[in-house]
Amino acid sequence: MASPRQPVSSSSVYVGKGVGAAHDAAAVIFDASFVKRALTVARASASASYSRFCCRPHCRRRLTFGIGMTFQNLKTTTCHFRHVESMSTLRSLAGKVTGLNAVVLGEALASEDDELVFPNDDFSRQALVPSPKKYLEMYKRSVEDPAGFWSDIASQFCWKQKWGQSVFSENFDVRVGNIKIEWFKGGITNICYNCLDRNVESGNADKIAIYWEPNEPGSQDSLTYSQLLQRVCQLANYLKDKGVKKGDAVVIYLPMIMELPIAMLACARIGAVHSVVFAGFSAESLAQRIVDCKPKVVITCNAVKRGSKVIPLKDIVDVAFVESTKNGISIDICLTYENESAMKRESTKWQEGRDVWWQDVVPKYPTTCAVEWVDAEDPLFLLYTSGSTGKPKGVLHTTGGYMVYTATTFKYAFDYKPSDIYWCTADCGWITGHSYVTYGPMLNGATVVIFEGAPNYPDSGRCWDIVDKFKVTIFYTAPTLVRSLMRAGDEYVIRYSRKSLRVLGSVGEPINPSAWRWFFNVVGDSRCPISDTWWQTETGGFMITPLPGAWPQKPGSATFPFFGVQPVIVDEKGAEIEGECSGYLCVKSSWPGAFRTLYGDHERYETTYFKPFPGYYFSGDGCRRDKDGYYWLTGRVDDVINVSGHRIGTAEVESALVSHPQCAEAAVVGIEHEVKGQGIYAFVTLVEGVPYSEEVRKSLILTVRNQIGAFAAPDKIHWAPGLPKTRSGKIMRRILRKIASRQLDELGDTSTLADPSVVEQLIALADR
Ligand code: WTA
Repeated sequence: MASPRQPVSSSSVYVGKGVGAAHDAAAVIFDASFVKRALTVARASASASYSRFCCRPHCRRRLTFGIGMTFQNLKTTTCHFRHVESMSTLRSLAGKVTGLNAVVLGEALASEDDELVFPNDDFSRQALVPSPKKYLEMYKRSVEDPAGFWSDIASQFCWKQKWGQSVFSENFDVRVGNIKIEWFKGGITNICYNCLDRNVESGNADKIAIYWEPNEPGSQDSLTYSQLLQRVCQLANYLKDKGVKKGDAVVIYLPMIMELPIAMLACARIGAVHSVVFAGFSAESLAQRIVDCKPKVVITCNAVKRGSKVIPLKDIVDVAFVESTKNGISIDICLTYENESAMKRESTKWQEGRDVWWQDVVPKYPTTCAVEWVDAEDPLFLLYTSGSTGKPKGVLHTTGGYMVYTATTFKYAFDYKPSDIYWCTADCGWITGHSYVTYGPMLNGATVVIFEGAPNYPDSGRCWDIVDKFKVTIFYTAPTLVRSLMRAGDEYVIRYSRKSLRVLGSVGEPINPSAWRWFFNVVGDSRCPISDTWWQTETGGFMITPLPGAWPQKPGSATFPFFGVQPVIVDEKGAEIEGECSGYLCVKSSWPGAFRTLYGDHERYETTYFKPFPGYYFSGDGCRRDKDGYYWLTGRVDDVINVSGHRIGTAEVESALVSHPQCAEAAVVGIEHEVKGQGIYAFVTLVEGVPYSEEVRKSLILTVRNQIGAFAAPDKIHWAPGLPKTRSGKIMRRILRKIASRQLDELGDTSTLADPSVVEQLIALADR
């Protein structure tokens, strides 16, 4: 694999202050006097190095100016533990904090200088983790005795048979042998049983499991836990009847209707492996996934309405089937839900024999269905995600560890209480919709809101209308949505009460401090802590996240590691860096929710994640740890970009572009985008003799939309008669990134290029 790039991080030099300094700084994190001292420290150090947030409104990067330390100054350690351990000396509740740069929940964050948001006593008192001390106690145990910590939690779930002698076994080091992660091996369970039957049996049969809000305002639907169980059983029986067995794959291509989690849970019930494909993906992308996992059945619906637009999903599936058949995979059953509000069945194209209306068959099946008990290490689902090559990776999660981990992270990171009404705006086509729309909340018996439509339809107040309608208490979304609603104006927010809200959440990309502040002040009325959860498709669940009520937050920081997670920041050579620093974010040792392999390609799994820094899982993200031990994610350091929280490999976009008959070469980089976080910037060389025209530009964009999906369409196409390449032919993306972001005075050394004049040429074409 290509060596990872320098992190897109706060500073251009790694800044470290050594073990001692970090220790001392961390020791005062939660001390009341820290607020004042922090200010003093910041001022005192200003002469040596001065840092502030980037002034661009959408940018969350902290810029460091002045003298930084070199690698030689950095001390390394084998014990990352010290970054959190000094918390044990801290007082339990925040109390009233005075000081210029701190507020307590309930007070507005006034300016960019405000750095710390303390939980108030009332919030902390009721919180599951009410103090740093309690966190420390639990965290220490989770790291020092992971087997004991996680088996205690796992015992709260239903197991047909308890796991074998070891709670987990792992090899995290490629130098020792193949990477292997196992949790609760030998334990026999079923995640659907734990999500549904267990809740029904424990007295929650009549509790609402799902509130469904359709695209058009004015109506709603809901299912209690017992109704949901019945629907799941009917579909499970249908699938079984059609020959779907344990281990078989089922592809689900559905929008956010209740049938999507129903389909996931039905697969889990019978031990089938679901692979949900986001319904914004094109026919080609769907076909690619079908060919890779060879499903027995594909589940879809005829169409969906998002905002005022109707998207004919079944037509897309039909095209995908033609494509997959060409590649040797034909599908016998396409179970299609009639989404009447978007399209009537009469208008739906149909292939008799293969296509079956859900409503015609599924309701005829019995409402009970025996559970297929599976091993904790049997696969639960496959979810394709983007990497740094063109081919999406089938991330494979297994059952037991994922179950325990998603349930536990959900509970603590949102301070979940049984009375909560929880709404996550993510689509089940992404990992967030797996772990935190479906499994995590339902394992806790939560009431979940599912929304079919677009957050700005009929206007930008829709989210808050939904919050008031269902009395949502926990609202979890992506920074891109926060920024777009922030742009629309406060009036759309303040016309709704939002009194029910108590915890907010953010995921998918770094949340810039100004968006954080708006989310906190305007949406949450300065009352609600924000859980900025850092994690990945691969990690299954939250890795670094605030625990609301436990410690003060810093706008833009994901704060501290979750139980059992040992984050480390390493330098380019893979050495752990101590204290205040920037580098590559890795994780030491496994956690129950970790993915076990890439479907059909264990070698790629090892090469991508475990070989870059032997001994660690490499996340692909850059990260900074500040003097107080807080973690700040700074973005991807590989060729992956996060566009509106959607993860896209630049290579995927490039391969779509070069499939255009008039495109000779393409190089794609990410650029900062005010709303989307990152935008897609493509340098394109056309085939000799083809004129560079607006028409070709449009047709290139259309090609990407058709091959991947609308969300991957380039924001900018930059004509490039030549690309900056080394003499060996390697494209110098560093230079392209600088040109794309117009940092023209930072191009660096271009003398190693085969033809340095292409740089001038590209600059001249920048705005054409
Ligand atoms: C980014 C989404 C900063 C990160 C759950 C990661 C974040 C990638 C955050 C994974 C966050 C996710 N702060 N960056 N709170 N959450 N990311 O697999 O770059 O779709 O590597 O999983 O999103 O994206 P994925």
